[in-house]
Amino acid sequence: MTQVEGRQKTWRDLIAVADLEQGDATPVTLGSRELAVFDTVDGIFVSHARCTHGAANLCDGYFDGRHIECPLHQGLFDARTGEPKAAPARVKLRMIEARVENGRVQILI
Ligand code: FES
Repeated sequence: MTQVEGRQKTWRDLIAVADLEQGDATPVTLGSRELAVFDTVDGIFVSHARCTHGAANLCDGYFDGRHIECPLHQGLFDARTGEPKAAPARVKLRMIEARVENGRVQILI
């Protein structure tokens, strides 16, 4: 376990790297969480899948290896940091710390 912001967080298994859409965004559900796993040019990054502008699932958008374009209004986010890069996206994505261990993506929650 890891102490983060006063709460105990644990690495949880999410998906095998081999099961990811290579170079793309993969939707993964963990309990009630809808997540997006991005296979970027700089490694694996995970965020909540819902666009911060509306209800769209970002995994349905266009991904270029660095940025994800929302399928609904074409808001653009950096998939590595969650930072909004083009309107109407203004609020950062909720990123989740991720790592790869033994060929599997794990997230810290
Ligand atoms: Fe994503 Fe509007 S719902 S930009």
